[in-house]
Amino acid sequence: MRPLSSLNRFLKKVPVNFAVILMCILWIVPTLGLFVTSFRTREAVRTTGWWTVLAGKPKVLGEPEYQTYCASCHGADGKAITAADLSNAGVVNQYPSASSLLVMLRQPVNGNEVHLKDKALPTNTKDAISTLSNVTTYIKNLSGQTKSTSQFTLTNYIDAIVGYKGTQDYLTDCKEKVSSTLAVYKCNASDILNSAGIGAATLNTLLVAIPSTLLVIFLGALAAYAFAWLDFKGRQWIFALLIGFQVVPLQMALVPMAQLYSQLGMQSSFLGIWLFHTGFGLPYAIYLIHNFISTIPRDLFESIYLDGANHWTAFRKLALPLAMPAIASLGIFQFIWVWNDFLVAKIFLTTHPVLTVQITNLIDPRGQNWHILTGAAFLSFLIPMIVFFAFQRYFVRGLTAGSVKG
Ligand code: HEC
Repeated sequence: MRPLSSLNRFLKKVPVNFAVILMCILWIVPTLGLFVTSFRTREAVRTTGWWTVLAGKPKVLGEPEYQTYCASCHGADGKAITAADLSNAGVVNQYPSASSLLVMLRQPVNGNEVHLKDKALPTNTKDAISTLSNVTTYIKNLSGQTKSTSQFTLTNYIDAIVGYKGTQDYLTDCKEKVSSTLAVYKCNASDILNSAGIGAATLNTLLVAIPSTLLVIFLGALAAYAFAWLDFKGRQWIFALLIGFQVVPLQMALVPMAQLYSQLGMQSSFLGIWLFHTGFGLPYAIYLIHNFISTIPRDLFESIYLDGANHWTAFRKLALPLAMPAIASLGIFQFIWVWNDFLVAKIFLTTHPVLTVQITNLIDPRGQNWHILTGAAFLSFLIPMIVFFAFQRYFVRGLTAGSVKG
């Protein structure tokens, strides 16, 4: 009997386990892809998928196409024809794109021969260009203009931090001198806090998120204590009303708050956005901490009052330490919520773009530089991850806050 029943139990768990594994895969694979992509070069990101790095030994991009169409005359290293040495940057630079290369290849060389002779490119122009774009990458590589494209680099991160949208990466373009005589380069250390990059935006986000979190915790804990242990008229009603406030959608308050702030001269100020986030965080904060504090045995409070403690002391010495798990989980929630907020910051903090807003500013309207986004995305969730792992042992306890009596 026994083996059968344990087999039954195992079979019952199969769907659950399967669902859990499936969910993990669904989450992890795209994240891993983004992570790998964030370390690939701009050129590699544009031309091949991130999974190609798993294929083992990195190949030089475009080499197979080059070998098929060009190597028979130009040689594997591009040096076979001295009049057209493809390892010479001067020659290759005349054909910056696949389309210009195609135009050249369609013209006769050496009098009336067709350039490629018997090796015809795909007849469809679009396919020919896509083949040739790999070839251009390869000959640029031969002529030393681009480094091997399968290498991993940090350029996406650097470009994201300084908000660089040039044609190459920031460090490469930086090597260009500003003047021909002085050794002054295009970039400098202050670019890190450049208003176009995410360096300054990260500071702005921290400036928004930390006070908004601390205020919610402090005011929420005080209010929760009052609702739990102070006797005043209408306590139940006010508490019920407060819980009701949780259903008010934030979007409803945007216009009236914007009007109010402009009357008070507070538009685009940090104070304004702190108050906004605090206001919308408080109902839930009070609810959560109240549920936690109200389960502390009454005897504990009575004995501390008997010892002559006032409410402030009871709050500090008894309620606050015991409510720590709830406070920690609330802190994580609020911090991550404010950190990820886009709408409120976009409207109420126009002069100091925060991270989420700045990341959208980084995207070129034509979607040309999305390689920067990969770096920016990873940097933007680094700090919430640190916060989460620093407090996660409280978090698990806090999730069940108030649901366990005693
Ligand atoms: C059948 C032989 C042959 C093949 C195949 C061939 N080429 Fe050439 N290519 C030549 C010759 C010969 C020249 C030199 C022409 C001249 O100097 O008049 C040349 C010149 C060039 C030049 C220099 C043009 C200039 O303006 O000076 C480039 C760039 C070039 N080839 C690229 C390519 C690429 C890319 C491929 C592969 C897609 C390729 N060629 C395939 C024979 C070939």
